[in-house]
Amino acid sequence: MDKKIAIAIDGFSSCGKSTMAKNLARRLSYIYIDTGAMYRAMTLYALRNRLLQDGNLDQAALKSRLERIDISFCRNADGVSEICLDGENVESLIRGMSVSNAVSIVAQEASVREKMVLLQRQIAAGKGTVMDGRDIGTVVLPDAELKIFVTARADVRAQRRYNELKAKGQEASFQEILNNIEMRDRMDLNRAVSPLRQAPDALVLDNSDMTLEQQDAWLNQKVEEVLHGHC
Ligand code: DC
Repeated sequence: MDKKIAIAIDGFSSCGKSTMAKNLARRLSYIYIDTGAMYRAMTLYALRNRLLQDGNLDQAALKSRLERIDISFCRNADGVSEICLDGENVESLIRGMSVSNAVSIVAQEASVREKMVLLQRQIAAGKGTVMDGRDIGTVVLPDAELKIFVTARADVRAQRRYNELKAKGQEASFQEILNNIEMRDRMDLNRAVSPLRQAPDALVLDNSDMTLEQQDAWLNQKVEEVLHGHC
């Protein structure tokens, strides 16, 4: 039987990391951990409880409640793992623009990151894992056997996100999405705690001009190399 490994997939927002990680986990029968969803659920909590208003976060209040906020993954009716906040499945609520516009503010809080990183390590411990995020290869799972750093041009990412929202029948403006992506890139790269960085041992995947099939082939080859040692 193949050994079970940890696969860390980091990179810029809207690069298709989640879809890639989810498909890979399914193929390998590994668990998939969407760490962005965890930060998004925390943001939904802050918005709902008015701890985050007009871009201002009440850091002290959020910190004091952290221990009581329950972030977990639960299975939906199809057995797919989805994000839950205090037992409520909030998967669809965390993908809209209100959470997307605010999540960088919550994600830069050191106390929030500390809680999320601990939780992420606990969920992954001892299992075959595919985890995607910004700091997985550098902070959360520095010993991951395979680290991928995904990137794509900002306009390509905005177009993909726009198409995705439109397909779901949601309101979307290309310019607003592009602005949001560029803003999140800046915040991800420049925050003091765990900024987005490529781990020195990560393999870079720029998928701007790749089809999904090309990307899958690339990824499968890298996984094969690690699992079976072919070079
Ligand atoms: O991957 P995503 O777009 O769903 O992530 C949402 C936000 O959470 C993104 O703006 C950056 C932040 N994030 C983070 O800081 N660290 C992670 N490990 C994952 C996401």
